[in-house]
Amino acid sequence: MRRSLRLDWLALVLLLASAPAAAQRASSVNGLARTPPMGWNSWNHFGCDVSAQLIREVADAMAANGMRDAGYQYVTIDDCWQVGRDAAGVLIADPAKFPDGIKALADYVHGKGLRFGIYTDAGRKTCEGRPGSYEHEALDAKTFAAWGVDYVKVDWCWAEGLDARTQYATMRDALLAAGRPIVFSICEWGQNQPWEWAPQTGNLWRTTGDISDNWNSLLSIVNLSMQHATVAGPGHWNDPDMLEVGNGGMTRDEYRAHFSLWAMMSAPLIAGNDVRRLADDTRLARDARDILLEREVIAVDQDSLGAQGIVVQSPHPDLQVWAKPLADGSRAVLLFNRASVPTTIRADWARVGIRTKRATVRDLWQHTDLGTLETYGTTVAAHGVVMLRVTPVAER
Ligand code: GLA
Repeated sequence: MRRSLRLDWLALVLLLASAPAAAQRASSVNGLARTPPMGWNSWNHFGCDVSAQLIREVADAMAANGMRDAGYQYVTIDDCWQVGRDAAGVLIADPAKFPDGIKALADYVHGKGLRFGIYTDAGRKTCEGRPGSYEHEALDAKTFAAWGVDYVKVDWCWAEGLDARTQYATMRDALLAAGRPIVFSICEWGQNQPWEWAPQTGNLWRTTGDISDNWNSLLSIVNLSMQHATVAGPGHWNDPDMLEVGNGGMTRDEYRAHFSLWAMMSAPLIAGNDVRRLADDTRLARDARDILLEREVIAVDQDSLGAQGIVVQSPHPDLQVWAKPLADGSRAVLLFNRASVPTTIRADWARVGIRTKRATVRDLWQHTDLGTLETYGTTVAAHGVVMLRVTPVAER
């Protein structure tokens, strides 16, 4: 009797002790990024050519062109802002390109109602050979916090012989100790199975190598990132890399597919084009604007349930029906034509997870209600998508 009472008591203590840990796993390491982060990053369009002036102009543009109001928050300088360390080991920004330092720039971005992100590397150097954060994690995290940084992307170059799980945990702990909420973006390209450990380490983790602005790159990234759907959720997201929308290497249909797939996968929406040109009267700018500011598709990405969509039907390797459960019980459904000819794709409600016979269907890109239907099929453009919101209708 006494023995079993003690066991019950022990079980209770263990249960209580493990509850916060379980809750933390279910949310995130720092309570941030409850929905996939949205913002802009310099790398895809500008590479190493970054400066305070560029970042200020980007922040101005995002505040004026509708991006900020559509949810894009983080303005992130990628590689090449840093040139060395001072005598105390503190990172030094390139004085020619960032003459007023990083804190003044972060203040400027904050003044535009946006958040500020920066880049470093968990290894000895960044991919462009600038100083890395290895053995400087605590100091760099404190420096970033003092500068007003809200988001840190941490790369994995010059990390030979280092263990990714250990180094990123060190950076996580340094950021948690730095005294400022900072979104932690892990960028080790999916080389060390981050989907197995990164949900307990960061808010997002790259699942693949770098994206390029072409269709084959897009397909190969989707093929890889879609495999890890079960580990995504509020506070911890698979990151199939930043957007190429508006950079000019793909057609309008391909960019729509790109943006729709990222929304279906609950991926971070980090624009990578020259958003200073988004209001221009060119075809490229108009298309990029229509895509990046498409609120009904963004709403799917940002849905509070935080589930990552999956392929539920594939009548042919080039034809896919994707489904993503949404918080209100409806489903986002994507008819995705990977082929280079227009083709009909049809979604079955049972397969997309709709349990009623009939459901209302809305076309999110066309902003059109298609009616109350028992199935839906249509011709989908080559390399194109049709994106739907399908809401069950209660049976009488
Ligand atoms: C790596 C990353 C890119 C970018 C560059 C910068 O390739 O994956 O996203 O940050 O480094 O050098």
